[in-house]
Amino acid sequence: MKTPLEKKLIFFATTNFHKFNEARAVFTKHGIAVAMIRIKSLEIQENDLEAIAKFSAMDAAKKCGLPIIVEDAGLFIKALNGFPGPYSSYIYKTLGIKGVLKLMEGIENREAEFRSVVAYCEPKTNILEAFCGKIKGKITEKARGKSGFGFDPIFQLLGSKGLKTFAEMSIEEKNQYSHRAKALHAFIKWFLRSR
Ligand code: IMP
Repeated sequence: MKTPLEKKLIFFATTNFHKFNEARAVFTKHGIAVAMIRIKSLEIQENDLEAIAKFSAMDAAKKCGLPIIVEDAGLFIKALNGFPGPYSSYIYKTLGIKGVLKLMEGIENREAEFRSVVAYCEPKTNILEAFCGKIKGKITEKARGKSGFGFDPIFQLLGSKGLKTFAEMSIEEKNQYSHRAKALHAFIKWFLRSR
């Protein structure tokens, strides 16, 4: 059994303030506080986001001795066979948004998907769980918007509400649709039940 504090406080290992702020908005809605633990957990080279996230969560939990979540995400572009996928962080740093738009030049099918995995590890009990979230959209022709981070300015939702890119949305709006918010909701549902 968890203490009342353990039920109401989550530790999130990340160095990304944007991710943390998005997560905090989701947790707050459920009455859960979240603390940012600024450690860089190890990321293995893998094609599978879930394996990467689980490994990072184990590493983070070992380093700080706390029950902790990590989150790993990626942008999967259909016409590029899912690239950059698990390599999104590296591609963002090297090619950037401009580079991805260049790769997409002349490509008509611009379908893409953001995927997120939230992994939770409890060092005392060795509990290790992962939760996924996905959102389909398309890669825009040009970058639009100033909010958010990463590939937000070139990711536009499909459907009637899909005129904005993620970078043209507030955190609250992005959280209504995002891969990360979906994965976090799945985690929270499990976390609140597993007491
Ligand atoms: P990470 O490995 O989970 O940090 O994510 C890999 C990369 O994917 C990040 O560096 C971002 O460029 C991109 N990414 C992940 N999630 C998002 C998002 O919500 N919006 C925009 N880009 C994202």
